[in-house]
Amino acid sequence: MDKLIIEGGHALDGEVYIGGAKNSAVAILPASILAGSTCTIKNLPNIKDVYNIRNILVQLGAEVKEDGDRLLINSSKVDTYRVDFELSKKLRASYYFIGALLGRFRKAEVPFPGGCDIGVRPIDQHIKGFEALGAKITIEHGIIRAEADELRGSSIFLDVVSVGATINIMLAACMAKGTTVIENAAKEPYIVDTANFLNALGANIKGAGTDEIKIKGVDFLGGCEHCIIPDQMEAGTYMIAAAASKGDVLVKNIIPTHLDSISAKMKEMGIKVVENGDSLRVIANGRPKAVNIKTMPYPGFPTDLQQPMSVLMSIAEGTAIVTESIYDGRFKHVDELKRMGAKINVEGRIAVIEGIKKLSGAPVCATDLRAGAAMVIAGLIAEGETVISDLKHIDRGYEDLEEKLLGLGAKMKRIP
Ligand code: EPU
Repeated sequence: MDKLIIEGGHALDGEVYIGGAKNSAVAILPASILAGSTCTIKNLPNIKDVYNIRNILVQLGAEVKEDGDRLLINSSKVDTYRVDFELSKKLRASYYFIGALLGRFRKAEVPFPGGCDIGVRPIDQHIKGFEALGAKITIEHGIIRAEADELRGSSIFLDVVSVGATINIMLAACMAKGTTVIENAAKEPYIVDTANFLNALGANIKGAGTDEIKIKGVDFLGGCEHCIIPDQMEAGTYMIAAAASKGDVLVKNIIPTHLDSISAKMKEMGIKVVENGDSLRVIANGRPKAVNIKTMPYPGFPTDLQQPMSVLMSIAEGTAIVTESIYDGRFKHVDELKRMGAKINVEGRIAVIEGIKKLSGAPVCATDLRAGAAMVIAGLIAEGETVISDLKHIDRGYEDLEEKLLGLGAKMKRIP
């Protein structure tokens, strides 16, 4: 398995171009199952999760072809509602095929999804939504089966704010009879992006981006051309890497408001963040000030950047309290950071990080996607050499990570 060797101590400097949002792409590609004709998708990130979703579309019978930087998907010939077991377990977002296939065929069989091991990740709210629309759900032998004679609009109040459940219910409800209302809906930019895509196909969705989404069922969805929004987590990762390395980086092709919670925290830490149109410049000189962080659903501080941010805290001046309120297992990077000298104590969902002057390079593991990003940032700022193993997690969600960092002056190489 590949390893990444990083020589630490080089400040990042220059410009980095952000790709399309992973969590939009992995929802919009399955959503194309609902379309009656060709969907043209632009700005798809070049990552393994997208590759795996494409494979599922092909397995289901969709025609998928590349045309320059666009992906053309025609799902009109899809004739099965069964997703392959091996393909499904490769990523979390395979659960979106339940909503999409149920919406299209009134039937879906999707093996339990895979994805990062970051704690308990139930899908009870997805199921609650499908059942409210009239579907019968059974789970046997690791396969989720959904079936309905007819899907009828309904009112669904989510017990927890869930990105996946909000999108999945939108997918199933688009062509249901009558109106569906999702209350306590997630507000992440991916929800808005997916709703915009579905509306471009002919759906009638209002309120995406607020906590109440109304979906009036329509009889038919056509095709469309859609450009995926920029990846706020990729952008946030480079912002944090720039700050941690005491660098000066222009993060380009972003929607700065999607990053407000990160920019605000950075400013609180004494890091300069300058917004200019669709880019943000991050300039850092000395050690940042330690600040407290609590992860929250959007627009709060995202759980997906908690791990990279912990690296910044590990070299900050003072002590930071990091509270992870979304996942109960998202501190796996802490043991790895401790190998590099970080002073962190974890008690349940709280990590107390006592900033030190410097991390020291060590062999570490990318235990999940964002832990991997955290380890890369740690390697960039550590004294000496860091060797990161288990890169498959990073490859699932970061487009051309090494090329982009090398372009900013980092020193690293991947070895088989
Ligand atoms: N939850 C439930 N029941 C459900 C669904 C969720 O209790 O039916 C709980 C979860 O256990 C968690 C919270 O609700 O505590 C939020 O989970 P959510 O459903 O929002 O997460 P998700 O849809 O499975 C997406 C992203 C994650 C990101 C979270 C939170 C995708 C494919 N994944 O996951 O992305 O952390 O939202 O923003 O969109 C990542 O990119 O590294 C990543 C893990």
